[in-house]
Amino acid sequence: MYKYIIHGQKKLKGEVVISGSKNASLPIMAASLLTKEEVILQNIPDLMDIQTMRQLLEMLGKKTVFENNTLSIKEIDPSLYEAPYDIVRKMRASIAVMGPLLARKGQAKISFPGGCAIGPRPIDIHLRGMKALGTDLLIEHGYIWAQAKELTGKQMDLMGNFGPSVLATENVMMAATLAKGITIIEGAAREPEISDLADCLISMGAKIKGSGTSIIEIEGVKELGGTSHTIIPDRIETGTFMAAAGTTGGEILLKKVNILHMEEVIEGFSKAGVEIEILSQDSLVARGKNIRPVEIETHPYPFFPTDLQAQLMALVSISDGTSVISEKIFPDRFMHAAELNRMGADIKVDGATALIKGVKNLSGAAVMASDLRAGAGLVVGALAARGKSEILRIYHIDRGYEKLDEKLRKIGADIERVPQ
Ligand code: UD1
Repeated sequence: MYKYIIHGQKKLKGEVVISGSKNASLPIMAASLLTKEEVILQNIPDLMDIQTMRQLLEMLGKKTVFENNTLSIKEIDPSLYEAPYDIVRKMRASIAVMGPLLARKGQAKISFPGGCAIGPRPIDIHLRGMKALGTDLLIEHGYIWAQAKELTGKQMDLMGNFGPSVLATENVMMAATLAKGITIIEGAAREPEISDLADCLISMGAKIKGSGTSIIEIEGVKELGGTSHTIIPDRIETGTFMAAAGTTGGEILLKKVNILHMEEVIEGFSKAGVEIEILSQDSLVARGKNIRPVEIETHPYPFFPTDLQAQLMALVSISDGTSVISEKIFPDRFMHAAELNRMGADIKVDGATALIKGVKNLSGAAVMASDLRAGAGLVVGALAARGKSEILRIYHIDRGYEKLDEKLRKIGADIERVPQ
């Protein structure tokens, strides 16, 4: 295991190239199960969750080769259909293989995902969607056994109690590409990662309309072919560097971004005092100015994302007033608040709302990452803190950020990765 040692209060200055989106890559990799032909994916970030998904695809009969952020996926054994506990417990996005397996092989055996540090995370919406397409489901011995002789298109509403579900929308969309007839998903999630998946599926021969809106229509086809597809930029990594520019009073040129996916994020960080200058559709400069308090709620896209809530909280913990951040997607997602308080922040969590009284300075401390984005929030905090911080359990951060320490070091951060 590794930890980060960060000596804070170094002004960050320079250029960062944003990686491909983790959350777009994972379901798109799963989509390769829908075809026997080769799928080539460019701009895949080199991070742990990608390795885990590769491992899962190999257990499901694919051969994968990953070089210079390009991943080739070829089929060698079409008979396999089990996603075991050992993989699913590491990465919940493994559930995304269910739709493709059902559609192509008529069956899937998937370990039932448990809760995680950000809350209970049920999968009822996924199961509702698969049932609607004609799947028989049995939950036994910690596994979901799903079977369908033939999937049949259906009109369905996938809205959940906390809004639409990203992975459930993707899972059902993938299953429906090979179903008989037309599927209409109402209450679909609208994240850019869903449109990226739809674009990739369309390039494989799928018929999909409406991705990026809350109603997606899929007309099933007999089979899908291979493709070559480039993954969209990671909007959460982009936002994380905006927060880092903010806490350090730095100036970071972010390249290979897609500003069209960043509207509410740019607005949120601007309100918090990060000056954002858009240079072109794929580059911008983030400058840390006077950090101001904000009142922000996280919501599904196009609104401010839950995956940047921890980083924003770290930023406004040193603002000159009191901020209110409400979490509307994962109401329990505040594990980082107590860790930021160990660094001298003044944060009180009440239900799904955090009240953050800005302090003048954070002070370096040993803290622990409880999940991926909480970990990123702690890095953002440590970059601003006086003195030395140690961030433990950075394997959470490694799951979702490509070379975060290297990218930060290049722009002037004093950050080291050492054995824990
Ligand atoms: C995806 C992202 C994750 C992000 C989240 C919300 C990937 C790989 N991960 O996760 O980084 O934080 O979207 O933007 O893309 N829910 C149910 N039943 C379900 C499914 C979800 O009640 O069957 C609830 C969840 O508990 C949560 C809300 O719906 O409250 C949204 O979750 P969802 O969009 O499904 O998150 P993921 O797709 O798992």
